[in-house]
Amino acid sequence: MDWTELENECGGCRKCRLWETRHNVVIGRGSRTAPVMFVGEGPGEQEDLTGQPFVGAAGQLLDKYLAASGISMDDVYIANIVKCRPPENRNPREDEEEACIDYLRAQVKLIRPKLIACLGKVAASKLMKPDYPIVREHGILIKKGAFSMIALFHPAAILRDPSKKEDMYYDMKKIREFLDDLKK
Ligand code: URA
Repeated sequence: MDWTELENECGGCRKCRLWETRHNVVIGRGSRTAPVMFVGEGPGEQEDLTGQPFVGAAGQLLDKYLAASGISMDDVYIANIVKCRPPENRNPREDEEEACIDYLRAQVKLIRPKLIACLGKVAASKLMKPDYPIVREHGILIKKGAFSMIALFHPAAILRDPSKKEDMYYDMKKIREFLDDLKK
């Protein structure tokens, strides 16, 4: 599947019920040759309205962390587990994740990132291991097949609980160091 096919398929997707309430399908933003791919859970209100991932309050905080850690947007692509907004920002359901996951797989195949960084428990539980213990295991870099993986707190969790800020900064620095090593 190439990018145009992916965009066309996602644009007309009715594989789960989320199409009924969406305004826009939210595929991704950033560099299509990025070494680091961030994956969140699903679009919120602003993302649904604009068609861009992580543009609301949590997304703005994510961008601040990237900038503060010296991670260039040229090195980053940002996507989600599900491409349509779950009503009232509830977590995506298992059947919705399953219906959507092939689109994310296609994105990973096209981008071929070196590192996949899961933002929050929902993404980490889908991509790394079930019921991922994010509080205990955030910031731990693991190797999985062709790429490395790491889970970070979701930026919305940092907004709710500022005591997680330092951990978030530390984990972002790990990603920055990973990028630095790639460029050595
Ligand atoms: N939260 C997410 O998980 N993804 C977005 O795109 C926005 C908020």
